[in-house]
Amino acid sequence: MDESRLVREAAAAREAAYAPYSGFSVGAALLTKSGKVYRGCNIENATYSPTNCAERTAFFKAVSEGERDFEAIAVVGGKSGEPFSDYCPPCGVCRQVMMEFCDPGRFRILLAKNAEEWKAFTLAEILPMGFGRDQLEKGRSE
Ligand code: THU
Repeated sequence: MDESRLVREAAAAREAAYAPYSGFSVGAALLTKSGKVYRGCNIENATYSPTNCAERTAFFKAVSEGERDFEAIAVVGGKSGEPFSDYCPPCGVCRQVMMEFCDPGRFRILLAKNAEEWKAFTLAEILPMGFGRDQLEKGRSE
């Protein structure tokens, strides 16, 4: 799938954002290695802390359907009710969730500021020296 289509999927996902408290709507589109796309949006809560980011919504939907192999995610966000116009970088918690399921050197994160302009990063670029399963496995053998 080409990158522009994944960005458009993220923009469509953003339409479902539930963000009455922050007024900031985010959409994500997660591409599996088999070519499927899982959409996610942010889902807020009156008690604030249960809020789920768009990226994690997409990951948890996919993993709960048995998917484990991911290629890329597109993320878009901005003031609710307005077109997105700036990059929306994933929060630290979402980067850590990506670390659990993705190869940091290969998994790509597309950040778009509109349907025509986006930047691509690897997970290793936005989460250097991330903690993953490898650390626990090494710890066990020592
Ligand atoms: N948010 C996301 O969905 N993804 C991010 O990467 C950054 C923040 C959401 C959480 C909250 O609903 C709103 O944006 C404001 O922080």
